[in-house]
Amino acid sequence: MSKNATLEINGQKYEFPLVTGTENEVAIDIKDLRAVTGGVTTIDPGYKNTGSCESSITFLDGEKGILRYRGYSIEELAEKADFLEVAYLLIFGELPTQEELDKFKKDICDQSIVDEDIRKIVDAFPKSAHPMGVISSLTSALTSFNPSSVNVDSKEDMYKAIVKILGKFPVLVAWTLRKKQGLPLDYGDCSLGYVENTYKMMFKQPNKDYTTNEVVINALNKLLILHADHEQNCSTSTVRIVGSSHAGLFASLSAGISALWGPLHGGANQAVLEMLEAIKEDGGDTKKYMAKAKDKDDPFRLMGFGHRVYKNFDPRAKIIKKAADDVLEQLGVEDPILDIAKGLEKEALNDSYFVDRKLYPNVDFYSGIIYRAMGIPTDMFTVMFALGRLPGWIAQWREMRLRKEPIGRPRQLYVGETQRAFKPMSKR
Ligand code: CMC
Repeated sequence: MSKNATLEINGQKYEFPLVTGTENEVAIDIKDLRAVTGGVTTIDPGYKNTGSCESSITFLDGEKGILRYRGYSIEELAEKADFLEVAYLLIFGELPTQEELDKFKKDICDQSIVDEDIRKIVDAFPKSAHPMGVISSLTSALTSFNPSSVNVDSKEDMYKAIVKILGKFPVLVAWTLRKKQGLPLDYGDCSLGYVENTYKMMFKQPNKDYTTNEVVINALNKLLILHADHEQNCSTSTVRIVGSSHAGLFASLSAGISALWGPLHGGANQAVLEMLEAIKEDGGDTKKYMAKAKDKDDPFRLMGFGHRVYKNFDPRAKIIKKAADDVLEQLGVEDPILDIAKGLEKEALNDSYFVDRKLYPNVDFYSGIIYRAMGIPTDMFTVMFALGRLPGWIAQWREMRLRKEPIGRPRQLYVGETQRAFKPMSKR
């Protein structure tokens, strides 16, 4: 293959180098485009064709349905690893040794205490507040309680900031839920694993002993791993671009949480369950909703379907669908919503509208059904996604800072008014 791409503008030819990734993906390096062409820019709404960075964290092949973290397949990690091991892998690049993992866990635990004044902030939110707004605000508030900025050239400083947020975030998640439910805000038990401790902090009743539920903890571990990173998606790109201005880690993460909230991104898991509920309430007529999704005059979309990158299948959805079946069976839960979901999936996979547009169930289509079986309230689903995505955001922020990437600042093509004279009030 040629090492260059040729671009011709008004008869003038320009050469741009081709760069190849480790999985043989090819990109045209247009870093010098504006300089050599005298200001010609590219336009790519939604960045459908634009690579914003080079990254060694996550590989995704949307055509083949491949997802790997640092080279390890998502299927293998979901089956064999623990969420904290995966977090370590994503952030530092290698699976931890037992010693490294033990230290990581201890350091996270040591940093999990949240300033008591944060309780006052939690208390100030109305119970009706959406948990994503609360958790984004609390993550941002952490900046005020930890004002010294991270020296990214210091390994120790960087590590401390990372274990700090990994320690405090589950506490904030639990407090967000407990405030809504009117339960006392408390801490967990560091002798438990990270996932189980988070679950206990969320659900422990003040008047009852906590008892473990292995099925729930295993399923949660799997779900968090499947959500842990997904290369340059909307929230991750947000974290990287906010961090590129050298705003701190917590501020960058808070921005990422806000980006995740939208129903086209992480908020889809809540939207899917609400959609399935609505179909059930409406008599379970899936065909009616299929027709709505296909009607161009109707804004309704089949939530949990379609993906910007996966044009074959979402490998995470495959694993989650099976996990949903297992969890419901193991917990003895019979959920009519699952039948509606399966019915919709079957219809969509045989419908030319969905087939032609390569719209398949995504990660969020079945995750809500498992969360519901675990007793997690619907408006907390996206918070659970954020809990899973946290290590990915941290890894991407760290990579961006260590690579000393420039501030993110896209160009535009101006299509507004050309210069005109100021119009006095009397003439408007
Ligand atoms: N229901 C009905 N039609 C759809 C859907 C859907 N869920 N998704 C896409 N389409 C149609 C869309 O109308 C368009 O049709 P046409 O070509 O006739 O105009 C075509 O498919 C392409 O859609 P697009 O919006 O240009 O595709 P995109 O890559 O910009 O959007 C998406 C991807 C995920 C935002 C979109 O598929 C969608 O809105 N899905 C529903 C929300 C959802 O489940 N989001 C979760 C994504 S996975 C979790 C995460 O990591 O964020």
